[in-house]
Amino acid sequence: MTTRTAARSTLTALALACIATLGHAQQGKLKVGLMLPFSGTYAALGVAIENGFKLRVEEQGGKLGGREIEYIKVDDESDPAKATDNVNKLIKRDNVDVIVGTVHSGVAMAMAKAAKESGTVLIVPNAGADAVTGPMCAQNIFRSSFSNWQPAYAMGEVAAKQGKKTAMTLTWKYAAGDESVAGFKEGFEKGGGKVVKQLTVPFPNVEFQALLTEIAAAKPDAVYSFFAGGGAVKFVKDYAAAGLNKTIPLYGPGFLTDGTLDAQGEAAQGMLTTLHYADGLNTPRDNAFRTAYAKAFKLQPDVYAVQGYDAAQMLAIGLAATKGDISKKAEFASAIEKAKIDSPRGTFTIGKSHNPVQDIYLRKVEGKDNKVVNVAIKGLADPARGCRM
Ligand code: PHB
Repeated sequence: MTTRTAARSTLTALALACIATLGHAQQGKLKVGLMLPFSGTYAALGVAIENGFKLRVEEQGGKLGGREIEYIKVDDESDPAKATDNVNKLIKRDNVDVIVGTVHSGVAMAMAKAAKESGTVLIVPNAGADAVTGPMCAQNIFRSSFSNWQPAYAMGEVAAKQGKKTAMTLTWKYAAGDESVAGFKEGFEKGGGKVVKQLTVPFPNVEFQALLTEIAAAKPDAVYSFFAGGGAVKFVKDYAAAGLNKTIPLYGPGFLTDGTLDAQGEAAQGMLTTLHYADGLNTPRDNAFRTAYAKAFKLQPDVYAVQGYDAAQMLAIGLAATKGDISKKAEFASAIEKAKIDSPRGTFTIGKSHNPVQDIYLRKVEGKDNKVVNVAIKGLADPARGCRM
């Protein structure tokens, strides 16, 4: 070998080593932006989602698709006015590979817009905003939870089947409340009922007294409400304190009583709600999850913990198919679309619009449990109105 060729091959070897290192750098830690509420009425929900997500990552040895995980956390305060700034910090300043968030539908819509524009993968572990898997649906946007329409529509059917003819609704005035009422109304009126009045309070207010007085005077057959977290605790207690739970059944999506029963106590007993999770499923999968969660966090899991756990499962499925390379968007999405997700709630699939197709349970509050009564609707898919993908 001449000195020249020797030099050339050394250079080639160096270049190859460089490329290998670069390739390696891309396979370094996967940056996960957790944008969740850690303060305000939904704070406990944000914590449960983070716990569930981290539990699944730990069960995988701290790695997904062969990559270690680095977390970057943002408290979104459930404030839509701050949402665009918050999500852009994660995308542009921190250069996250994937965003997991959030709880509040109004915040989630701003996140979906930013994710759609930047192409960053977004997994929504709660917020039900119909638009996220409707008009805003995209190859890089997924949901591990539900659409606002899903549990609401099921509750409408249940209320009609129970022979209720008239219902009043009372919710927070924002996308989640509005869409929840629309879903309930669709199911209830299809079954022959009639929503006679829709009452609202601004989010996150909890001054219900005047509206409860109005309901007591109007005497509908049933009331349907969307509240969650701290607001749900206060509402269910106020409803009972007004004596209304003795005469007019209070229905809602399961958020009204999930993760809240310790604080609601007697006021919630006997309430019927619909949701994609329940206590007492008693499957090996759910039992294992509940034991592991309780051991890790000294807390009982709720629907939010399950949704966080399943967000990590979905991410793991996409990363396994792309060997950790999340920039392979088509392969990442196609793996999740084909998967059967082995959730504590029961197996579910991800529909074309990237929203779970799942069983909706009817549950009844008994003590500290949202005890499963039966499956209200099997394999319910969101209609995904307006989604073109
Ligand atoms: C929402 O804003 O979409 C939302 C918030 C809390 C819940 C459910 C839905 O428990």
